[in-house]
Amino acid sequence: MTDTLVVEESVDRVVVTLSRPDVRNAIDQQMVTELHQVCAELEADPRILLLTGSGGTFAAGADIAQLRERRRDDALRGINSGLFDRIRRLPMPTIALVEGYALGGGAELAYACDFRVGTPTARIGNPEPGLGILAAAGGTWRLVELVGEPVAKEILLAGRVLDADEAHALRLLNEVVEPDDLLAAGHRWADRIAKQAPLAVRLTKSVFHAPREAHPVIDDLAQAVLFETTDKHDRMTAFLERRKEKK
Ligand code: COA
Repeated sequence: MTDTLVVEESVDRVVVTLSRPDVRNAIDQQMVTELHQVCAELEADPRILLLTGSGGTFAAGADIAQLRERRRDDALRGINSGLFDRIRRLPMPTIALVEGYALGGGAELAYACDFRVGTPTARIGNPEPGLGILAAAGGTWRLVELVGEPVAKEILLAGRVLDADEAHALRLLNEVVEPDDLLAAGHRWADRIAKQAPLAVRLTKSVFHAPREAHPVIDDLAQAVLFETTDKHDRMTAFLERRKEKK
């Protein structure tokens, strides 16, 4: 438990709950600092991250009270964009559990995750231009990668907020479940991930996000590392022996 987060750790995963329910989990500087601490732990000891909100909301964006006072140099520090990029680069997959609003920086935090599971109340959008700013922490590029230009422009330029069905149809939400099943659904995705070889998952995630020019060399290098692991040999041997037993 920190000032703004509830953190529950286990061997292969960490569940982090954004915990400023009185302000709809608005992301303030303290929460950014504490999420960086979580990132540091996950970089040192790679595990799956499940990220959720408290009080029926994922996060209603950056804290507008702080945002109003920020000036040029604050923007140049990339407070949210730097954090969300760090989250995107975490070694193991990340899963956002989106109940209720994921707006502005809250939406961009969810976009930075590898998976998003929502509830029927999920509402996802980027109202930044309505506040006189732009969605500078992934909205203008990561959202486009996720949903394509037409929908991204509806959200970014015309203030469209997607409901759960729309987000699911676009696979911006991988799955929609009832609120009392949300955490369990997140764990089911984490269980699927945890069944894979951890290093293979890590390297697949990094290679997936490598720039086009790095392929296929980076794929071959990562494969070379994996070909040398005992885990690969054991998993393939187990497969071949299971088949032999069946005969
Ligand atoms: N920053 C700071 N405070 C926020 C906030 C934010 N992003 N979002 C909500 N809050 C605060 C409200 O000021 C309010 O505080 P109060 O109780 O002291 O008045 C409290 O959280 C509850 O918000 P409220 O608007 O009453 O809740 P709601 O359930 O009616 O509406 C939202 C929820 C998310 C639709 C609405 O709060 C909202 O539009 N928030 C801002 C979203 C936004 O523009 N985000 C982009 C920021 S870049």
